[in-house]
Amino acid sequence: MIDGKIQFVKPRAEDGARIWELIRDTGVLDLNSTYCYLILCKYFPDSCVVARCGGEIAGFVSAFRLPQYPETIFVWQVVVAEKQRGKGLGTAMLKEILKRKTCAGVRFLETTVTPSNEPSQSLFRRLARDIGARCEVAECFPADLFPEGRHEAELMYRIGPIRKEKEEI
Ligand SMILES: CC(C)(COP(=O)(O)OP(=O)(O)OC[C@H]1O[C@@H](n2cnc3c(N)ncnc32)[C@H](O)[C@@H]1OP(=O)(O)O)[C@@H](O)C(=O)NCCC(=O)NCCS
Repeated sequence: MIDGKIQFVKPRAEDGARIWELIRDTGVLDLNSTYCYLILCKYFPDSCVVARCGGEIAGFVSAFRLPQYPETIFVWQVVVAEKQRGKGLGTAMLKEILKRKTCAGVRFLETTVTPSNEPSQSLFRRLARDIGARCEVAECFPADLFPEGRHEAELMYRIGPIRKEKEEI
């Protein structure tokens, strides 16, 4: 069960450095520059979420609404601190974003997942199940688009159509 002390809030620039550390510590996510996380916190707080537990950050999701397809929200990275995993926090953060005013009118959630990241695949399938939506998987970025053969393919997970009202999510 999720720790009762956890609060879902919008990120602030002051959270950027800790978010960078959380992403680094996963050892599986692409680590972007600190600058990138500062930009997400400063310019996209409405569609990103921080799970705060006391003075700690227990989780973070970055996402944005696609400017050319506003019915779709794209989820970039999801991270849950190791000791908080497996309690439903990842799923709860994604639902928190979908319930926000900024997601009014959103009918699809897209993300990309590598074939080896089973926790991530389970996370998005679980979300789809919980909100009663389909989850379709298609090719997105084949491995040969990445330099030096150092990156797996990224598969597109598309969840929707989302028909539930935000109170039902
Ligand atoms: C992926 C991650 C965010 C999941 O967060 P979480 O809070 O543990 O997820 P939840 O507790 O909400 O679980 C969601 C589903 O994933 C499953 N799951 C969680 N951890 C898993 C694991 N290690 N292996 C397989 N399935 C796992 C859960 O069982 C649940 O599915 P179910 O309801 O069908 O049983 C977390 O493991 C993490 O931070 N991993 C490192 C970073 C990463 O890979 N991020 C995702 C890509 S952006």
